Amino acid sequence: MATLGHEVIGIDTDKAKIDALAAGEAPFYEPGLPELLAEALATGRLRFSSDVADIRGSAVHFICVGTPQLPGEIAADLSYVDSSVASILPHLSTGDLVVGKSTVPVGTAEHLTTVLDDASTGALLAWNPEFLREGHAVKDTLHPDRLVYGVPVGVEGGDRAVNLLDEIYAATIADKIPRLVTDLATAQLVKVAANSFLATKISFINAMAELCEATGADVSVLADAIGHDERIGRKFLNAGLGFGGGCLPKDIRAFMARAGELGADQTLAFLHEVDAINNRRRIRMVEIARDECGGSISGLRVAVLGASFKPNSDDVRDSPALDIATTLHRQGVPVRVYDPAALESARRVRPELAYTSTLHDACQDADVTLVLTEWAEFSGVDPVSLADVVRRPVVVDGRLVLDADKWRAAGWRVHALGRGPRSAPA
Ligand code: UGA
Repeated sequence: MATLGHEVIGIDTDKAKIDALAAGEAPFYEPGLPELLAEALATGRLRFSSDVADIRGSAVHFICVGTPQLPGEIAADLSYVDSSVASILPHLSTGDLVVGKSTVPVGTAEHLTTVLDDASTGALLAWNPEFLREGHAVKDTLHPDRLVYGVPVGVEGGDRAVNLLDEIYAATIADKIPRLVTDLATAQLVKVAANSFLATKISFINAMAELCEATGADVSVLADAIGHDERIGRKFLNAGLGFGGGCLPKDIRAFMARAGELGADQTLAFLHEVDAINNRRRIRMVEIARDECGGSISGLRVAVLGASFKPNSDDVRDSPALDIATTLHRQGVPVRVYDPAALESARRVRPELAYTSTLHDACQDADVTLVLTEWAEFSGVDPVSLADVVRRPVVVDGRLVLDADKWRAAGWRVHALGRGPRSAPA
């Protein structure tokens, strides 16, 4: 927002995070963010505070807090949204615009409108979902595919909300980015519908991967072939370990929970299958890893390449890679984990695992090497020199990122998820 030319104050209850941000330190790994933060701080238009009273004087208030999965349930935990809105109530002025960015179950915005009205704030609520991907967050934020404004329909102030949002996104709109104005319910649904579609696409190709494994077919070629059809498209058809992270898994579950509350559970029943296919990939990977260990694990070493849920991120929330490393560890398989960016965040949640600071250290004397996150460092590694580091040149490619022919030529046995035994001979 500061880069777009606005005066911004960022509020968080975590004082340590606020102090770090004010000192120009990004609180997580995101390419381009430290530079952008430094530039924005240098303009003097960006400040941070842990005192919510400092929002006074701002005309627009974005709610950007997380909506994680409730422990033991599939529904979303809305307590951060509720408490952040409650905390700003005493500081709002008539005519202020409160804008929801968080991913929420449809109906949340309508409820929050009532909260603002009951407190006689005179403020208006809009919903403006964001679609950024971790690892591409800077580009996705400054050059989004589209802008969606959910505004109250048929009430005084709806047009004012649109005008304010147009002012905020003037630079983006000038770039001819499509802008859709809708009611509150549609805006909230757009976000979860988009993530559900993406999750479905990944699980579809992973269902095809299961069939490829059973028939000897090659899921990568299959994805290329169907992806050439413009109606299908090749993006988000990368088979492998499936989706993780703080968004797709919990969003499809929260969507199912909300549909149930609305009496429409049948409507989203297919998302149960999307979730199940996705979870099966992790189980399958553990089976393959154990098989490649030859049944007996005593004295073996397993190298795990990847801890983050995706490349160019240090986020390990619901990470397939960390999940698999943990399962193997719990089964008594000795794993050593390497990740280019996520070692610190992985160590925080899984201190029991062994970590190495280089790829070679993880692979030293390894009997099996598992590629579990699609980092460029892993696909770019030289299989010839790595063959001298490991004890047995056996690799399982959980993300279909290795050039299998090249690895085989270097003496490796390659097992790729989604490629059957005939296309991946031992
Ligand atoms: C996702 C959406 O892509 C964003 O549009 C959305 O804004 C965001 O959630 C959110 O709700 O905030 P993100 O979680 O950063 O973004 O990551 P994705 O790029 O969607 O990847 C999710 C997972 O799917 C990763 O584990 C990735 O490895 C996996 N994936 C992705 C595949 O297995 N195959 C693919 O073809 C693509």
